[in-house]
Amino acid sequence: MDPTPRKMRIHHLAQAKERGDKLAMLTAYDAVTARIFDDAGVELLLVGDSIGNTMLGYTTTLPVTVDQMVVAARAVAGAVHRALVVVDMPFGSYEAGPEQALASGTRLMKETGAAAVKLEGGRRVAAQVRALTDAGIPVVGHLGYTPQSEHLLGGPRVQGRGEDAAGRLHADALALVDAGAVAIVLEMVPSPVARELTAAVPVPTIGIGAGPDCDGQVLVWVDMAGMGDWSPRFARRFGEVGQALADAARAYVGEVHGGSFPDDAHSFAE
Ligand code: KIV
Repeated sequence: MDPTPRKMRIHHLAQAKERGDKLAMLTAYDAVTARIFDDAGVELLLVGDSIGNTMLGYTTTLPVTVDQMVVAARAVAGAVHRALVVVDMPFGSYEAGPEQALASGTRLMKETGAAAVKLEGGRRVAAQVRALTDAGIPVVGHLGYTPQSEHLLGGPRVQGRGEDAAGRLHADALALVDAGAVAIVLEMVPSPVARELTAAVPVPTIGIGAGPDCDGQVLVWVDMAGMGDWSPRFARRFGEVGQALADAARAYVGEVHGGSFPDDAHSFAE
C-alpha cells in the first residue's frame, strides 16, 4: 500500500485490489492499541466480536452485545487518523432479517464513527447485506470458518475442503458481492480455494488462515503480538509482547516492594 498517511476510504479497497497492493488488517478493541496500529501503518482495523474471547473473558464470541461493540468501536474510531475502521455485528444482531440488520447497523454507524460493518455468512445474509448497502452502510462479509456458528461447525475447523464445499463458498462469495459487500474475510480456508475465490470476486479478500494469495491479511492482535501462551497455527507471533509486559510488571512490583520506586526523579520536591 501507499505509505503516505492519507485516510483510508472504502473506494481505496477496490483500488488496492486493482493495483495488487496487499492490505494489512488487525483487530483492535481500545484506543491505546488502535493508535499504535494506526501509526504502524495498518490500513484496516477490525473491532472484532473476538473482543468476547480476547478481552471480556467469554469462551466464544456469542455473548457479545451491540452495546459492547459500540463502546469498543467508539474508542477505536476516535483514536485513528488513517485506518479504516470496521465494526463487527455481533451474534443475534442481524440474523432475523434485513430490518434487524438495518437497526443494528444504523446504531453501530451512528454511535461509533466506524466506516463499515462486518457480518458472518453468505447467501443466508445476502438480503441483510443488500439492505445495509442500500442504506449507505458499507458491509464486509465473512466466509469460511465463522466463529458465531462455532457450535454448528464443530469448533475452529478448516472450511471449503472438497469440491462441494468449495462450490458453496464460491456461491456465497458471489452472493455477497451481488448484494454489495465491499470486501470479504476468508477464515480457515485452504489456500487454493482462497486463491480461486480471490480471482473470482472484484472486491478484496482478506484472509486469516487462508494462505498468501488473498488481497489482504487479518490477525487477531493478541495472537499477532504473542500476548498469550498459545496462538493459532495460522497466526505467526510477530512479537512476545505478553512476556515483555509480564517482565515490566515484575520489575515494577520488585521496585515497589524494595522501596526503590519512586526515586527522586519520579517525585515532586515541593
Ligand atoms: O472477530 C474477529 O476478530 C474476526 C476475525 C477473526 C476476522 O472476525
